[in-house]
Amino acid sequence: MRPPAESIGNLAVIVGAIALLIFVAVEGALVYVVWRYRASRTTTPALFEGHTRLEIAWTAIPALTLVVVFALMLGTLGEIGAALEPGMRVRAVGHQWWWEFTYGDVVTANEMHIPVGTAVEVDLLSADVNHSFWVPELGGKIDMIPGQTNHVRLLARRAGVYEGQCAEFCGVEHAWMRIRVVAEPADEFARWLAAQAAPAAAAATDGERVFMANTCVSCHAIRGTPATGRAGPDLTHVGARATIGAGVLPQGVADLREWLADPQRYKPGSLMPRVPLSGADLDAVAAYLAALR
Ligand code: CUA
Repeated sequence: MRPPAESIGNLAVIVGAIALLIFVAVEGALVYVVWRYRASRTTTPALFEGHTRLEIAWTAIPALTLVVVFALMLGTLGEIGAALEPGMRVRAVGHQWWWEFTYGDVVTANEMHIPVGTAVEVDLLSADVNHSFWVPELGGKIDMIPGQTNHVRLLARRAGVYEGQCAEFCGVEHAWMRIRVVAEPADEFARWLAAQAAPAAAAATDGERVFMANTCVSCHAIRGTPATGRAGPDLTHVGARATIGAGVLPQGVADLREWLADPQRYKPGSLMPRVPLSGADLDAVAAYLAALR
């Protein structure tokens, strides 16, 4: 199985080489003519009107070039579509400005895990405006369009973290729509999925009490608690993710506290409002969220 990104990369190299060849030929001819006739005093160029053979040549050569590129592209499209038998399915929904990933009953955000060597079919949807799902090293760039489901297949040959990014301007925080794809061996992936499927560990801490007593619950879900909001990212295992706010801050108690104290400072325009909490409550909620692993 060849990763789609590799097929696309190969095509880009071939098409780039064709373009470079044309560029060198055309610019070379131009430089040659300028140099060759530098001493010429003529101010009117030679006219070729009615020169049928020349006209056919400069119409046919670009047209044939495009036919060749088109054929190469069709070949690549076929390779991407047919060669990968998906072994797994994930639903991805673009939101302003974060990603929701669903694996059956498991819902998570911004960080996607996939097993190495398994082709993953990703169903792409949007909750609001057009977004575009793009993890360059793993697959093609596909738009997420409200009311339509698109698909992309990802394949990672090696374990590692693959960075992605929303690739369609979707509002002020478009740049902070990072995707982190963690590709890991099948057994590690299975462990991750099982951990994600579990409800949040019972905490009964001050942080949990403050979270449940405030507006947090109307937008966020934490499975196993009364919080069932769906407008924002699912926080059941938020502490296990590497970043906060789709990449805007690293994970950790101190950064969670920073984020909670004033989300608009880090992600102006995002739907996460500033919830007026005391310093002690901020500490408690940050500690609670960081412990949701
Ligand atoms: Cu979402 Cu750009």
